[in-house]
Amino acid sequence: MAETSTWVFGYGSLIYKVDFPFIEREPASITGWARRFWQGSHDHRGTPEAPGRVVTLIPKPGSVCQGVAYRIEHDVFDYLDHREKNGYQRMQASIALRDSQREVRGITYYADADNVAFLGPQAHEPLAQHIARAVGPSGRNIDYALQLAAALRELDEEDAHVFAIEALLLEQQSRAK
Ligand code: SIN
Repeated sequence: MAETSTWVFGYGSLIYKVDFPFIEREPASITGWARRFWQGSHDHRGTPEAPGRVVTLIPKPGSVCQGVAYRIEHDVFDYLDHREKNGYQRMQASIALRDSQREVRGITYYADADNVAFLGPQAHEPLAQHIARAVGPSGRNIDYALQLAAALRELDEEDAHVFAIEALLLEQQSRAK
């Protein structure tokens, strides 16, 4: 019988904004990739004129990116493909499930450096200032970044890049008060 479900690895908003049905959910990781706020967001946390900054995966040998994997029915892809349409494409991935200690094949949404919304690297300070300013139809860019950092902490995982941006955002917030 044909398989009707697939594992999807989420490393950004898919960790904490779970507005889709799933069969199983488990903390997970993929190896060889680093999470970076290098993708522009025209449709969720910014606009085409003033894009926000959201995370994508950057190839980095040996690096482990922590997130959450969901086993979903195939028809859920209609929703997820639409949600992730601003530069992200499905990419095959080998996903390590943390609790059940299994390695499964699945997919992840990857925005490569050639997509039109890609912004690329920026020093932490201006990057955090950019995030502090941006806002789009899904809300403030700062909430995306702070919620991601909180979700990683909840998973008991670390990400130096995300936590550095979070610290700068919190510092800017307290200075503005
Ligand atoms: C993901 O969460 O896995 C993709 C990027 C995002 O939607 O923030």
